[in-house]
Amino acid sequence: MNIVVLSGSPRKGANTDTMVEAFAETAREGGHTVEVVRVAGKKIAGCLGCQYCFTHEGTCVQKDDMADVIESLKGADMVVFASPIYWFDITAQEKAAIDRLYAFGATGFPFTKTALLLDSHSEGVYDAAIAMYKSTCA
Ligand SMILES: Cc1cc2nc3c(=O)[nH]c(=O)nc-3n(C[C@H](O)[C@H](O)[C@H](O)COP(=O)(O)O)c2cc1C
Repeated sequence: MNIVVLSGSPRKGANTDTMVEAFAETAREGGHTVEVVRVAGKKIAGCLGCQYCFTHEGTCVQKDDMADVIESLKGADMVVFASPIYWFDITAQEKAAIDRLYAFGATGFPFTKTALLLDSHSEGVYDAAIAMYKSTCA
């Protein structure tokens, strides 16, 4: 499988990177291709909800780094959402990238498998992120 990880921690080499590297290493050992995209290091604005993408074959009206992310995702069988918990949810940077996946609404999503990787300081802080993930994927 071709797996793309959208990683939402702004801190390089920190906890989320360690978690993502462990996942990627194991997946590669299993014969999968893994591309890690650090969305928190990119300029990705929030979705405008303008629905321009619905009449322009999935192309977003906003010209920023999400265009490259969308291109990577077009070849993905699986997308992994990885994020630290910020105030009981995924980071704003990860959420901005997920919101922009709205552009696939017109054309259909190329990937059929997903996963969620979360890390945090405390236990028991994942409910909101898991609820969003499950409902979005459903
Ligand atoms: C703005 C901010 C908000 C955070 N909110 C929470 C939280 O609500 N619950 C929690 O357990 N940890 C929280 N943390 C801690 C991070 O989730 C935790 O340290 C995580 O491992 C950081 O990932 P990183 O090393 O990739 O940056 C917060 C950290 C930051 C910077």
